Amino acid sequence: MIAKVQTIGIAKRYGGTTALEPTELSVQAGEFLTLLGPSGSGKTTMLQMISGLIEPTEGRMEIDGRDVTDVAPGKRDIGLVFQSYALFPHMTVWDNVAYGLRMRRMARRELRVAVDAALTMVRMNEYARRYPRELSGGQQQRVALARCFAYRPSVILLDEPLGALDKKLREHMQGEIRRLHLELGATFIYVTHDQDEALTLSDRICLMNQARVEQIGTPADLYDRPATRFVAGFIGHSNLLDGTFEAEADTGTAAPSAALRLAAGGRAPLPHDACAATTGTRGCLLVRPETIRLVDPDAGFSAGVISDIVFFGSDTRVQLTMSDGSLFNVRCARTEKPRIGERVGLLWDPQRTTLLDA
Ligand SMILES: Nc1ncnc2c1ncn2[C@@H]1O[C@H](COP(=O)(O)OP(=O)(O)O)[C@@H](O)[C@H]1O
Ligand SMILES: [Mg+2]
Repeated sequence: MIAKVQTIGIAKRYGGTTALEPTELSVQAGEFLTLLGPSGSGKTTMLQMISGLIEPTEGRMEIDGRDVTDVAPGKRDIGLVFQSYALFPHMTVWDNVAYGLRMRRMARRELRVAVDAALTMVRMNEYARRYPRELSGGQQQRVALARCFAYRPSVILLDEPLGALDKKLREHMQGEIRRLHLELGATFIYVTHDQDEALTLSDRICLMNQARVEQIGTPADLYDRPATRFVAGFIGHSNLLDGTFEAEADTGTAAPSAALRLAAGGRAPLPHDACAATTGTRGCLLVRPETIRLVDPDAGFSAGVISDIVFFGSDTRVQLTMSDGSLFNVRCARTEKPRIGERVGLLWDPQRTTLLDA
């Protein structure tokens, strides 16, 4: 199947700075793909090269299998929405949405239908005659979305569009963006540094770090099978346990290992799918806080002393201090009654852990 958007070794350098290493990205028609990563990881650079606003230093770009590397932004059938709404302050909401269609010389009657439909879609019909300054931030962002949707581009690029909104409104608008994606059926490429937003919205997430793609996959892939320490630490809460491989009955040979001797104390069995490693080499085990059970101090794979307890409504987050001073996070059901200062054992299902490089 031909991808809707395909980058082939696309890269960007500014003098000695690499904003994006050569990158392959394939986005299917109708997909919601999120570029997620910390500030400065190359997300905006990637998005702007797809839009055509930034010229790549090397590599190519295809839309529907057609090379568009040298095609101007306005001729790529792409819509853009930014964090700053960039509405024209002297134009009404209606005229702001109509502006792009007038530029495209759409016939008057057709234009009226398209503007009304776009305003209906973002539920801003009643505000058509207002000016941007008479709207809240959330309403202005809806107008910016309508302005982009009005000409029905088949690819829509959004760069931190909810970044300026407060938490409650941002969560509401996430729901709206999901609905609009379904209604429009367009391909969405969305930039955010907020992992919750990425997990909520995306069919797939492309996690970026230091100008490269760290891992691409569904939200569940990244959560359950992170490829690197960075992914494990960035997505969800995690305990990253460093240790040294040792064989089942340690005979001191270099036989493939079945457990990790933990720096924090104790010994953790490895998941069945973990690659055999040489005894004595170092590894790292990811254990998610919600997979852990508190047991008697001697009954767990490891043990620690409870140093903090935070009530979170639906569950309780318990922090333990381990023998090497490192911290360990556990999420408990409300029915458990941990106490600060108590020494407890930690038990989990080895099959729900992930072995990572040290
Ligand atoms: N016009 C530019 N000139 C020089 N360096 C730039 C320019 N644009 C971006 N960069 C650098 O490229 C890197 C990636 O930037 P960007 O794509 O904006 O990251 P993100 O959107 O993930 O925060 C950063 O280190 C940034 O400083
Ligand atoms: Mg950015």
